[in-house]
Amino acid sequence: MSLYSEKVMDHFRNPRNVGIIENPDGVGEVGNAKCGDIMKMYIKVEDGILTDVKFETFGCGSAIASSSMATEMIKGKPLKEALLLTNKAVTEALGGLPAYKLHCSVLAEEAVQAAVRDYYVKHNIPYDEKDFPALDHEHDAEGHGEGEQ
Ligand code: FES
Repeated sequence: MSLYSEKVMDHFRNPRNVGIIENPDGVGEVGNAKCGDIMKMYIKVEDGILTDVKFETFGCGSAIASSSMATEMIKGKPLKEALLLTNKAVTEALGGLPAYKLHCSVLAEEAVQAAVRDYYVKHNIPYDEKDFPALDHEHDAEGHGEGEQ
């Protein structure tokens, strides 16, 4: 039996929503310091709905599959709902990941939250840090986020 589920292989081989959005409303870039993988998520927002989501992932197959699945799960959804997306939900939707690959799905959760927070910052929309639990630890590590204008 393969180490990866069919869903993981499918999203790795045929990732959905890959690329860049020109003039995005928000961009989130996150990375994992240990493996060095980087994920960038672009969003378009209209009336509080994520009308488009795209990603670029410079990383492993699980990270690519996770970002692909995450974009599918949040596209067309209200921002508030996208913020509730957990790495657990992404992993489950992928039919599971090996334990040592779970951190790859965490990147997807972080990237979504970072993109939404960037949208709030750029549009001067007040927000609560508590709505971004996945970004709690990123402040000094990423050098990206609320300070940027
Ligand atoms: Fe680092 Fe997958 S090994 S994101």
